[in-house]
Amino acid sequence: MNQDLAYVMISEEEIRSRVREIGLALTEEYRDREPMLLCIMKGSLVFTADLMRCLDLPCTLESITLSSYRAAATIPGDLSLTTPFEVDVSGRDVIVIEDILDTGRTLSYVMGLLKAQNPASLKLVVLLDKPSRREAAVEADVVGFTVPDEFVVGYGLDYNQKYRNLPCIGVLKPSIYS
Ligand code: XMP
Ligand code: MG
Repeated sequence: MNQDLAYVMISEEEIRSRVREIGLALTEEYRDREPMLLCIMKGSLVFTADLMRCLDLPCTLESITLSSYRAAATIPGDLSLTTPFEVDVSGRDVIVIEDILDTGRTLSYVMGLLKAQNPASLKLVVLLDKPSRREAAVEADVVGFTVPDEFVVGYGLDYNQKYRNLPCIGVLKPSIYS
């Protein structure tokens, strides 16, 4: 599968060490609390799985599944929840875990739904941030890596549902799209 990549943007080792750093910082910050991790499926499944094992804290795990209908797999489209929003976050210390903050439309929608439930606190952790593409006013509290405006795959991120299992993050060869 690696042969489909034009280049590796972030290596497996770089991801591992950054995830460990974020885990240590969150462990310190949430000491004596019991946060709820909220994984935004499916893109942040891999990041969530690795990050939660770097948290030396009692915590619970919930997930919501979103999909955006896209004209093309690499162009943002309208969002929808593919499952009803059944997570109750009221009074909880919530840590939202997302793969990538791009236009911000996904997260401004999700954060709005969550805030309406009055959580005790709400933190947004994203593995990747593409600030150059922002349309909605949403910023992450913790960013793993700031990336340029390239469509990336791997470590949970997909192109047409594939490449999520790549251990690194990379850019596909143009021939894959045609
Ligand atoms: P927005 O634009 O709402 O983006 O911030 C949110 C969702 O779009 C997907 N996305 C990507 N997926 N490579 C991907 O595989 C990318 O470079 C990329 N940029 C955005 C992603 O699912 C994210 O949750
Ligand atoms: Mg996603």
